[in-house]
Amino acid sequence: MGQANQYSTALLFEIHDSRFANLLEECLKESEHLTAPEGDTTFGFWMQTLADLHLLDMELKGLAETYKIDPLTRTVEFTGDETRIQYRIAHLEKVRGKKTLYAELVDAYGDTNAYAFHNLYPYKGKFYPRVVRTLINAFNLDKDALLLDPFNGSGTTTHEASLMGIQSVGVDITPIGVMLARLKDELLFLSEDDLAFSLDDLTDILRAIENRR
Ligand SMILES: C[S@@+](CC[C@H](N)C(=O)[O-])C[C@H]1O[C@@H](n2cnc3c(N)ncnc32)[C@H](O)[C@@H]1O
Repeated sequence: MGQANQYSTALLFEIHDSRFANLLEECLKESEHLTAPEGDTTFGFWMQTLADLHLLDMELKGLAETYKIDPLTRTVEFTGDETRIQYRIAHLEKVRGKKTLYAELVDAYGDTNAYAFHNLYPYKGKFYPRVVRTLINAFNLDKDALLLDPFNGSGTTTHEASLMGIQSVGVDITPIGVMLARLKDELLFLSEDDLAFSLDDLTDILRAIENRR
């Protein structure tokens, strides 16, 4: 009886397994179609809302000469400077088969808001870097531009501008915002020599922190 039970249990698992395997295979086929768009210029599966599509549209309006977005296949056709678009755009994963710089940054830091010191401090009300980049692209600013954020907070806007090679001026009424905005940019341009502290330097730094200077 015990043996019969064992067999039937094994058989049941086998049936379940094969059904499960079939189901899984179907799901994978379906999700492959959904997650891997065909085409060389594509946007990611994370883009789910009409707002995301609108932001992509704004960027392409600024950066491309002509373009056509296909939201169903999540692909884009465009004419224009593909290298510049690949370096700058925030709402595409790939441009003509090459991963965008933005997708690389986000993948490297595992977070769309955390790359390159953006998350140094959880300043209340700070902008999303991706949206800032979208606006910079929508206005097609380049290295000859000078960007002003008169309410710069902890400097998401000025920091993103620096990352894109655009000069900027930030103003804020809050001293901690000004300090953070400066610090983020300074960290970007730090050279290895700046980190060559001696033991005495480190002791001085720790004393300064201890004395809240
Ligand atoms: C939403 S936050 C700005 C976010 C910022 N633009 C960014 O890129 O992350 C608004 C900022 O406006 C600043 N602010 C409010 N009134 C101000 C004023 N009269 N002059 C300068 N800054 C002001 C606040 O201190 C706050 O940091």
